[in-house]
Amino acid sequence: MKLLDDLQQQLEQLDAQQLLRRRRIVATPCAPQMTVDGHALLSFCSNDYLGLAAHPVLAEALAEGARRHGAGSGASHLINGHTSAHHLAEERFAQWLAPHIPQAGALLFSTGYMANMGLLTALGGPGVDLFSEELNHASLIDGARLSRSRVQVFAHKRSDALADLLAQSEAAVKIVVTDSVFSMDGDLAPLPQLLQLCERHGAWLVVDDAHGFGVLGERGHGVLSHFGLHSPHLIYVGTLGKACGLSGAFVAAHETVIDWLVQRARQYVYTTASSPALAHALQASLDLVEGAEGQARRAQLQSLGVQLQREMQAMLALPARRSSGWRMMPSDTAIHPLLIGSNEEVLRLSAGLQQQGLWVPAIRPPTVPQGTGRLRITLSAAHSAQQVSQLCDALAVVDAGQEKREA
Ligand SMILES: Cc1ncc(COP(=O)(O)O)c(C=O)c1O
Repeated sequence: MKLLDDLQQQLEQLDAQQLLRRRRIVATPCAPQMTVDGHALLSFCSNDYLGLAAHPVLAEALAEGARRHGAGSGASHLINGHTSAHHLAEERFAQWLAPHIPQAGALLFSTGYMANMGLLTALGGPGVDLFSEELNHASLIDGARLSRSRVQVFAHKRSDALADLLAQSEAAVKIVVTDSVFSMDGDLAPLPQLLQLCERHGAWLVVDDAHGFGVLGERGHGVLSHFGLHSPHLIYVGTLGKACGLSGAFVAAHETVIDWLVQRARQYVYTTASSPALAHALQASLDLVEGAEGQARRAQLQSLGVQLQREMQAMLALPARRSSGWRMMPSDTAIHPLLIGSNEEVLRLSAGLQQQGLWVPAIRPPTVPQGTGRLRITLSAAHSAQQVSQLCDALAVVDAGQEKREA
């Protein structure tokens, strides 16, 4: 039983380093108020940025999709699993991205993780130089590794560092890969500069807009719309489990790239197609996202973000807190990290908040670099202004409690 003994020992080590992750059981739909492990908590951790995950219109569309198309797809897309619901969803994604990518096509994947892995492994390979942003999501890092390309990492938001690497590359195919909104930092990649560099050096730009799709841009059409970008060199990944309130992802790119993915993206070819009911419900989700309700929800999200930043900055500026070392990371997105530092302290804060009925996850290495443990506060349009103030007040109380113990 050597394997079990080894695993047990490693689990104990993780526990001792405050790095052991535990799952909580949620008994209610995704919403700010949740029942978690039997306790009522106000949650600031979901990626349900527009508050659509439990929207009755989506629940009904899912049920209608199941009645119309069945619950399961029965096989992979290349066997018999590619239904008219999947196909219509792809056509709609291609339409949304058409102003930004000439001759755009789109391909639906079951998850964002699979889309990124499938995309990079299908496009990469020996002889390809892949330039990866330092803070990219794990799915891009894993896809880059598995692609067997030569991978070079450039520093966070440093287009000058990327420019040097591109200038030195002699590869026939160069691919730059970046998140649009960094998932643990909430800041935006300098996409106009990155795209300019790509065009100058004949490179492709892969943009993972997991946290921007539905939130940024005109009618929520994403980060390419936000920056007004247009280029045949763009390859776009949107995910559907965050602002869209469902699950899945798509790649949009020149239709030749899409045709190639259908042949070679193993995470597309060798897996059962997602439920056609889900694909059907996507239409209802996209209607909500780009319609008046989506506009109102994005405005609410924006206003809550401004409020949170303002109230947190005021709290951190109080004399008692100035030396805490905490830093609110500036953000115009739905992700507002509070940088704390040590794993122990961030865990203690998260636990203290929980005692007051709030759920804010402690993010630790390896998800973020050593010494940058943080509370990742995510906002949803379903939060109220009063709930945001409740969070700021609760943090002040936890901090005060901690100081009392230390005194
Ligand atoms: C930037 C980024 N890309 C991709 C993914 C993966 O998407 P999915 O959850 O649909 O697998 C995530 C998920 O958290 C993400 O944050």
